[in-house]
Amino acid sequence: MSDRSNGTPGNSGAVATADGRPNDLAHPDPGLPPHRPRLSDTQPRAAKRSERQVSLLFLVSILGTLLFFFGYFFIRLDDTVATLRLQNLLLGLGTAFAMFGIGIGVVHWAKTLMPDHEWVEERHEIRPEADRRDAEGIVKGVLEESGIARRPLIRNTLIGAGALAVLPAIAIFRDLGPLPGDTLRHTMWDKGVRLTRDPDGTPIRAADVQIGSVFHVIPEGLNEAEDKLEQKAKAVVLLMRLNPEDLNPSAGRENWGYEGIVAYSKICTHVGCPVALYEQHTHHLLCPCHQSTFDLTQECKVIFGPASHPLPQLPIMVDDQGYLVAQSDFHEPVGPSFWERG
Ligand code: FES
Repeated sequence: MSDRSNGTPGNSGAVATADGRPNDLAHPDPGLPPHRPRLSDTQPRAAKRSERQVSLLFLVSILGTLLFFFGYFFIRLDDTVATLRLQNLLLGLGTAFAMFGIGIGVVHWAKTLMPDHEWVEERHEIRPEADRRDAEGIVKGVLEESGIARRPLIRNTLIGAGALAVLPAIAIFRDLGPLPGDTLRHTMWDKGVRLTRDPDGTPIRAADVQIGSVFHVIPEGLNEAEDKLEQKAKAVVLLMRLNPEDLNPSAGRENWGYEGIVAYSKICTHVGCPVALYEQHTHHLLCPCHQSTFDLTQECKVIFGPASHPLPQLPIMVDDQGYLVAQSDFHEPVGPSFWERG
């Protein structure tokens, strides 16, 4: 390798014509601009100051990670959206500071303290053994030049920031992986659970549901549940009544509705927005987020938009007092289709 940052041209710019004669029209290699020493190259106090700044940025990263864990472990979610928002804010800020601190710290370290000479390595034949030795030499050289051995403050804060920065990812992936168990596959709906109005929880009689009407529905008892928000996020349902002749139930689903009354999950199978728009004349349900459109007459099959699965249907019937009740839980997981459904 040769140091070309002193402004001297290299020899790789020499160009010859096909018959070996020098080519007068070729531009000579201008080389790299002259190396200009930085303040930290010439003044030990400036180098020390840069070292402290880099360590401070790594400390910011450590504090960001601790902020993430504070939000993750110590903010208890209750029935209000405020705690959810606060937790999300702390998780977001913590992750941002953790990544920002490491990223900016490394850039600042490279710009102010690591050698900034430019080196050019000429091509040569492949020599595995010699190359391996060269590579080992390069790694040693990089460690030496980075000054990590001579600067314990930077080394220690970098190790601390790097070791902590991966922990939030483990915590988050644990939430996606084993921790939820099969809770995402089940909702509060069960045999005999009444369909009630959202949000007051008033039971709904079949006779109250007119053709063309739509009800936003929650399971009876949801308002008293401890984890009301989580349960509601899975169990909300849209209830509509159509002319029974407009429905085309597939085999096995003929009795999942009652005299044209049908219930479908309100959670869009794209990325989970509430499907809240009902077009009475076309019998279409629309998701306002990305315009997925579901056809009620075809068991909420997707007829437009990015959703890939129909909305899950809740089998319903009427109890002996005329109230609408569920026959069972949904037969498939509700919500975004990020897993295969059985
Ligand atoms: S969330 Fe419904 S279409 Fe995207």
